Amino acid sequence: MKKTLLIHNIEEEKEKFYRAIEYLKKGGTVVFPTETVYGLGANAFNEEGIRKIFEVKGRPPDNPLIVHIYSIEEINLVAEEISPYARILFEKFSPGPLTIVLPKRDNIPSLVTGGLKTVAVRIPSHPIARKILKECNLPIAAPSANISGRPSPTTFEMVISEMEGKVDAIINGGDCEIGLESTVVKFEGDELKILRPGGISEEQIKKILPENFRIIFSSNIKNIESPGTKYTHYKPNAKVILCERDNFGKILLELEGRKVGCLIYKANLCGENVINFNSLEDYAKGLYRAFYEMDREKVEFILAERVEEKGIGRAIMNRLYKASGEIKN
Ligand code: TXA
Ligand code: MG
Repeated sequence: MKKTLLIHNIEEEKEKFYRAIEYLKKGGTVVFPTETVYGLGANAFNEEGIRKIFEVKGRPPDNPLIVHIYSIEEINLVAEEISPYARILFEKFSPGPLTIVLPKRDNIPSLVTGGLKTVAVRIPSHPIARKILKECNLPIAAPSANISGRPSPTTFEMVISEMEGKVDAIINGGDCEIGLESTVVKFEGDELKILRPGGISEEQIKKILPENFRIIFSSNIKNIESPGTKYTHYKPNAKVILCERDNFGKILLELEGRKVGCLIYKANLCGENVINFNSLEDYAKGLYRAFYEMDREKVEFILAERVEEKGIGRAIMNRLYKASGEIKN
């Protein structure tokens, strides 16, 4: 067990915050909040730090990391080039939950990209993430701060239970606003591939690109272009079962005597281990936390209500498919 520095308020605990910045610069690991989920960060140029990320997460070495930068001006630090449309998307949606896969520069260690010639780049909007990037003045590689295969942490409590004693510092940023990871996209000619649906929806992207631009979901093309998508993901200990509203009663009857939790969309039901979500944004924000709470209560089965695959609903269903093993992607 490592002694992990815990920082609750970066303004009131300035000395600790700058210690965390030093850890990052020198190859240490720091967990910090972003608007999507908490990230497990290390200096993207420092192989020692990158190695620690893979070790702490138990992450397969061919699953590449996202590199976070402060602003579009820094893209040339990590990527060889950026196409005009990729730039337009970044200008529209950054800082924010969009990650674009670009040709990698040689100064990014291939450890970061799992041996790929491309690098995934994101400009986060969370003020703490931004302050870290500004103060470090370095690109920071940061996957979600969970053990590989588990749901990503979206609250400080989740981060502590997953990462305390394994990293140099953890910064508390409260609850993450979006609650699901960024959208990962890659341009290929006049096509855009959505490798992972996330905080920015297909509909939002469509509005920005020319009408004839093709947008393809990686779930619709059998590929492993985004290596992370081939691994099981986002799984709580409980077994997740996807349900239509009309099926809840039947499945609950079949599971009588077992400890069951329910995730309900727009219905406001009462009961033990029942969590209601009143909007898609609410569902996205609360999904991983709900998994965490159900595990803490030792729930055996989680019945999760399906939602329409529109807007952020696409990302919600993607995570639910994976959590349930009903792989669609
Ligand atoms: O919201 C997020 O993106 C969070 C926060 C911390 O920024 N990070 C995150 O990182 O979700 P991670 O490592 O959990 O997911 C990264 C995803 C994986 O599916 C990975 O395969 C894909 O991005 N990826 C990374 N580099 C890639 C590349 N060069 N080509 C294709 N996919 C890539
Ligand atoms: Mg992850």
